[in-house]
Amino acid sequence: MTRLPIIGAALAATLLTGVAWAADLTIVHGSVGRDQEILRSQLDKFEAETGHKVTIVSMPESTTDQFGQYKLWLAAQSSDIDVYRLDVIWAPQIATHFIDLMPHIEDIKADYVPAALESQMVDGKLVGLPMFLGAPALYYRQDLLDKHGEAVPATWQEMTATAKKIMEAERAEGNDDMWGFVFQGAAYEGLTCNAQEWIVSFGGGRIVENDGTIAINNPKAAEAITLAASWVGDIAPAGVLNYKEEDARGVFQSGNAVFMRNWNYAYALAAGDDSAVKGKFGVTTLPTGGDGTSSAATLGGWHLGVSKYSENQDEAIELVRFLNNYENQKERAIVTSRPPTLNAVYTDVDVAREQEFIPLWKPVVDNALPRPSAATKRKYNEVSSEFWTAVHNTMSGNGTAEENLAILEAKLKRLKGSAW
Ligand code: GLC
Repeated sequence: MTRLPIIGAALAATLLTGVAWAADLTIVHGSVGRDQEILRSQLDKFEAETGHKVTIVSMPESTTDQFGQYKLWLAAQSSDIDVYRLDVIWAPQIATHFIDLMPHIEDIKADYVPAALESQMVDGKLVGLPMFLGAPALYYRQDLLDKHGEAVPATWQEMTATAKKIMEAERAEGNDDMWGFVFQGAAYEGLTCNAQEWIVSFGGGRIVENDGTIAINNPKAAEAITLAASWVGDIAPAGVLNYKEEDARGVFQSGNAVFMRNWNYAYALAAGDDSAVKGKFGVTTLPTGGDGTSSAATLGGWHLGVSKYSENQDEAIELVRFLNNYENQKERAIVTSRPPTLNAVYTDVDVAREQEFIPLWKPVVDNALPRPSAATKRKYNEVSSEFWTAVHNTMSGNGTAEENLAILEAKLKRLKGSAW
């Protein structure tokens, strides 16, 4: 917020360009894995180049918890935060609190993955500059599949059977901590992502269809959730009902799960030198529901928005552009296996050599399935919360999938009213 005359590193630039100011900027984000470490090192470079100072405000891991806090700051029109890292789903709900970035990126917009920019457009305004994308994978233990003579599963039913067989065989050999499958089952946005994948891959349609209609109360959706509920306490620990991304990664990376559903960031960490599964795992697309259905991967990602209430908007825009420049996106792709938002980074030879997951995953990222945040506009958060509640109740043994989907349908219809 405060502005000080520039001193030190940027003095020469000041002398050349006339009056310049050093701003104290604040960026808020939630992080998993090494996100924060990389962000800090990139901010250090920004500080050295510009003379500005940037403080990180750290949020809890859960996107749902972050959103709650962000809404409080934004409603209070707080100038404390200049740059927010925004989940891909939030733009329609908070657009009014952010400046339009489009006029500030005209020179670079053609470099971006078009769908990434599109996801952040609300009423002709670019709410966030896409930082990285997400499209989850099925992580599998190649060594255990080989040892037990099993193939990488193509359907959720095969995944269930293979997970159970290997888990039981490993336990019989004394590996008591082994589980079959870990994922994000806590009652939050992460469960919405997982359950959307199960239902869409079973042919059960969207939580809310693109045209706003509600068709979620159907037998295919019930079949998908019923299968998922059968995992809890069987191939997945009962505690999976409280798992977020890092909980699942912790189990898989310490060697105690055959399969895991997780985002891209888990790849670099699971392949790291301190990982128990280094060199022992592979990734593939999430399973299908069988019967000719296709796999579905929910679109994730985080993007940088400049608060309308920031007193340093010019410097904040400079920061957002800097964090998303080629060099920084490339570094994030290599070190954190985060899919970039600049097209060219996908074909960078260093990225291909040092982080094979990125080019491998480009088609999955391109085909990732958005959540219905555009269709449900300002009500998305409530829609998602009703959805994950219905799924979580079913998985907790609190009502059948059919019962909970009927309740969900009624709630969504009430929420929609005459229009979204
Ligand atoms: C990841 C995704 C984000 C999603 C969240 C759910 O952070 O990038 O879009 O909402 O997971 O937990």
